[in-house]
Amino acid sequence: MLTFIISPKHIYPNYHMILQQTYPLHDGRFIPRIALGTWQMSPQQAYDACSEAIKAGYVSIDTAAAYENESAVGAAVRDSHAKRETLFITSKVPAEIKDYDAAKKQIEQSFRLLDIDYIDLMLIHAPKPWDEMHRGSTRNYDAENLMVWKALQEAQQDGRVKSIGVSNFNTDDLDNIISKSGQIPVVNQIRVHVGHVPEDVMDYCKQRQIQIMSYAPIHTGRLLHHEPLVRMAEKYGVSVAQLCIRFDYQLGTIVLPKSTHAERIRQNADIDFEISSEDMQLLLRMSEKE
Ligand SMILES: NC(=O)c1ccc[n+]([C@@H]2O[C@H](COP(=O)([O-])OP(=O)(O)OC[C@H]3O[C@@H](n4cnc5c(N)ncnc54)[C@H](OP(=O)(O)O)[C@@H]3O)[C@@H](O)[C@H]2O)c1
Repeated sequence: MLTFIISPKHIYPNYHMILQQTYPLHDGRFIPRIALGTWQMSPQQAYDACSEAIKAGYVSIDTAAAYENESAVGAAVRDSHAKRETLFITSKVPAEIKDYDAAKKQIEQSFRLLDIDYIDLMLIHAPKPWDEMHRGSTRNYDAENLMVWKALQEAQQDGRVKSIGVSNFNTDDLDNIISKSGQIPVVNQIRVHVGHVPEDVMDYCKQRQIQIMSYAPIHTGRLLHHEPLVRMAEKYGVSVAQLCIRFDYQLGTIVLPKSTHAERIRQNADIDFEISSEDMQLLLRMSEKE
């Protein structure tokens, strides 16, 4: 019996190129432009998805203590036998941890669970605990964020965390860290997708060479059946997911698509097409409610 083996490279000829692209960080290191997101993955799903992604050529993975899958991500990294320096692993200190000692302990815990020599990038997950983020609390955590930042700075000085940054920070939160610590975060990981492009914080970051990592590029799947996007994706001969990921990519951001399916993981990196400037304008004007 004849068996035909079709390699992923054969199905998606251009995806490897995109996966190798990087942006410079202002601390002298480089960050890949696409990473596999792992939020809402069980440990088994995270292990399988990370293994598939690395096999497919992904070199960057985004996890967090709060995702409760760091140990599975670390196991997939180790079992891949990829050279550690060829991969870029990001994790995060939970939004609820807002004191120095707890942050130090938490960073140790991430090391223990990931069980890899070093973490490429570690972020403060959010400027406030999630329940306060969700109800728009005005309580200020400036002093507490500085304590967590100090713990991250020390981990960086130890060489165990290579780069440090933040997530979900607005311009005031960023001002606080920058003015009081004298160190500029290398990235701000924020929600950016068609219908949600927070230009104020993106401009602020651009001026300070803070790279934007776009999370939820497909709005956690909510954009997949959006009629105008379905029509535009058809025009380009791509899927809605690819259109959404390419949109964030053309904005000049690092994109973090999540999928638990091998086929989609490969497809999400096959974004070597160009959205016209007219269509980029249309996508930029779409509102979240459309
Ligand atoms: N810093 C933060 O506060 C924060 C917050 C949210 C997210 N993030 C990061 O950003 C990552 C991405 O965001 P997200 O997880 O919210 O979601 P997302 O990437 O916007 O969308 C993921 C959803 O789309 C589906 N999907 C993915 N590719 C697809 C394709 N090619 N065709 C059809 N369906 C597809 C996935 O389903 P399947 O899995 O079933 O394929 C899943 O339901 C997270 O995983 C996490 O790493 C960070």
